[in-house]
Amino acid sequence: MSSKNIRQLLTLCFSISFLLTGCSNYKATPIESGKDLSLFVTSDVHYLANSVHDDGKAFQDYCTNSDGRMLYYSDDIINAFGADVQEDKPDILIISGDLTTNGEKQSHLSLADKLKNIEKTSGTKVYVIPGNHDIENPWARGFKGDERYKIDSISAADFSKIYKDFGYGEAISRDSGSLSYLAAPSDDVWLLMLDTCEYRLNKNAGIPVTNGEIKDTTLKWIKKCSKMAKKNNARIITVMHHNLYNHSSKIYYGFTLDNSNEVEKVFRECNLNLVLSGHLHIQDIRHGGEGNERIYDIATESLLMYPIQYGIINYSPLKGFDYNTTQVNVEDWAKKNGIKDSNLTDFMAFSRLFLTDNSYNKAYNAVSQTGLYSEEDAKDMAETISFINVNYIKGTVADVLADVEASNGYKLWLKADGIEAIENLRAYLLSMIPHTENDNNHLHLN
Ligand SMILES: [Fe+2]
Repeated sequence: MSSKNIRQLLTLCFSISFLLTGCSNYKATPIESGKDLSLFVTSDVHYLANSVHDDGKAFQDYCTNSDGRMLYYSDDIINAFGADVQEDKPDILIISGDLTTNGEKQSHLSLADKLKNIEKTSGTKVYVIPGNHDIENPWARGFKGDERYKIDSISAADFSKIYKDFGYGEAISRDSGSLSYLAAPSDDVWLLMLDTCEYRLNKNAGIPVTNGEIKDTTLKWIKKCSKMAKKNNARIITVMHHNLYNHSSKIYYGFTLDNSNEVEKVFRECNLNLVLSGHLHIQDIRHGGEGNERIYDIATESLLMYPIQYGIINYSPLKGFDYNTTQVNVEDWAKKNGIKDSNLTDFMAFSRLFLTDNSYNKAYNAVSQTGLYSEEDAKDMAETISFINVNYIKGTVADVLADVEASNGYKLWLKADGIEAIENLRAYLLSMIPHTENDNNHLHLN
């Protein structure tokens, strides 16, 4: 049999296997087996459409009091990121949830337009899943003058319609009980895009519920997907908003899946050893198990926070997966577009200062309110916690640990006790220290 005939036979088997598993809506032509693959991975974009605010006082206040996310520049950041994608033209772009600030319908529609443009101009295939902020969010707000007002969020059905071209319309299998789907952008590498969110509880809770889990029925569907991939000699990258492993000894409840032990067992059984998550807004790589049993969970930080970074995965059939992070080149994008805002033309410095000040002010206020420390000591303590926090988010605590430990602020933190707010901050600082044992920005998987 000639190699052409073998290829035709394999293609036929491939198609039959899809039909047998009820995957009649498969449209895109997958990248041929044996080819290298490049993937961009970002998370927690938290996009806020320009149309939901007038740049007035209510919006400015909301941006100033943020948790370090640069909401004011949300539109610019996503446009600059789009320019990076257009320049590098990766085969695939993955966004692991929290696409919008608070599930605003207008933000979803506007983001979908931007993704459409990215696909059109770069040829990159975009795949998304929801995060806990994206669906049925009771916090969706518009901003006008001094006022915040309630605006429409979206339903789960709306989500799959809005993002039809970014996964849902191309899925080779969809889970009937969630917005999870399986996509096959390449013959060799498939994407298991999991919906881990609990938006059905949002209305009664009155908040975008933080916790996540994977239901039993979805776990059964995952096993079927894994069998299907095995039959077609495809490797699976698993993507979900919530984390499989604890990425912090202090902040994990609501972030790590509520049923992570059960999920880990299924993932191991299915050989799903590379998980891409988000949700925590920090860059951190954790693993569980050893040898062939090892599963990696790469949490990508928020695109809206310093250092505005995303992951790049290069897959080669012979070498495996290489994961590295890089930063969005906002400066170049701003210059090319004739933007005069000096914050944008020097965005790395601006965004670092924005995050540093945000962390510093919170810590300084907490420490000085105790009345236990001199002005100078309060400043030293705030500086230390802000410095390590910025590096924690960036995934680079190991690079600065010696400086942190030598600082006066750190020595004061070690002795700090007696007041709950201070003890909590101290525990937070200490929880960042162990993040030095592995490189959080690079990973190679054979
Ligand atoms: Fe988020």
